[in-house]
Amino acid sequence: MNTVADPIAAPAAAGTAEAAAPGARRRRQGEVILEVKNISLRFGGVKALTDISFDVREHEVRAIIGPNGAGKSSMLNCINGVYSPQEGTIAFRGRTFSHMNSRQVAEMGIARTFQNLALFKGMSVLDNIMSGRNLKMKTNLFQQAIRNPWFGSAEREEVAHREFVEHIIDFLEIQAHRKTPVGRLPYGLQKRVDLGRALAMEPQVLLLDEPMAGMNVEEKQDMSRFILDVNDEYGTTIVLIEHDMGVVMDISDRVVVLDYGKKIGDGTPAQVRTDPEVISAYLGTSH
Ligand SMILES: Nc1ncnc2c1ncn2[C@@H]1O[C@H](COP(=O)(O)OP(=O)(O)OP(=O)(O)O)[C@@H](O)[C@H]1O
Ligand SMILES: [Mg+2]
Repeated sequence: MNTVADPIAAPAAAGTAEAAAPGARRRRQGEVILEVKNISLRFGGVKALTDISFDVREHEVRAIIGPNGAGKSSMLNCINGVYSPQEGTIAFRGRTFSHMNSRQVAEMGIARTFQNLALFKGMSVLDNIMSGRNLKMKTNLFQQAIRNPWFGSAEREEVAHREFVEHIIDFLEIQAHRKTPVGRLPYGLQKRVDLGRALAMEPQVLLLDEPMAGMNVEEKQDMSRFILDVNDEYGTTIVLIEHDMGVVMDISDRVVVLDYGKKIGDGTPAQVRTDPEVISAYLGTSH
């Protein structure tokens, strides 16, 4: 049976060093876990990304910001194997990977949420989060469906996975909705379920594409808290695309700024906020 880790367990401390966070929080930051080098991506004549390089350190919250069409989602799509860039490399824990599909990338420990929700609207919250667990299941659905003594281990395995999913439901404070079809939930809660589905994969790196889009202030505060709790309690490294600069300044350790597919800024929130090029391309305008 696959081992099912305690979701609230303290993250491994090996190789990490205490680093002063730019905000009030002190956060662990470790080695480079993800290295993006000279990535260029074209769609016909459209240059979605041009020569993009940046790194992500273990346990940090790394934001990607920029105007609409800057290439932010395309960047995440390159990292998680949806798009194959024409040039450049991406390395995870020092291992360069290319031509991997999204399933292989997920198996390596990189999960993501989507700008446009990709949930099963007619299925319950519990089953949607369980769907994120599929990668971790050794026994297949056919074996689970048979449920005879030959496949007793399949049932035991499913119980363990369900327990893990229940931990996530408690963690995200959505117990009251566990049996509700996702399509009936308010948008803010659907986004939380999408986060739960990604967490069910026990990712080492979590790619979040505008997890707070369309939310009101209170929902954004809740989501920010959950993201920081995931980062603190699971030790998960976070790569976050977000338009709300208040949120970015509050919760990220470092920020990459894209504009028309090019990187125009990279640094702490305080550094990018005062960077003249970033201000004129992005921060000076309303988003
Ligand atoms: N599958 C695709 N086919 C063709 N062009 C694409 C595709 N995906 C993205 N693009 C183009 O690449 C550029 C970058 O798009 P992308 O979605 O990455 O931007 P973004 O920064 O995520 O924008 P937004 O803030 O609006 O989500 C745009 O010009 C977009 O039209
Ligand atoms: Mg996008």
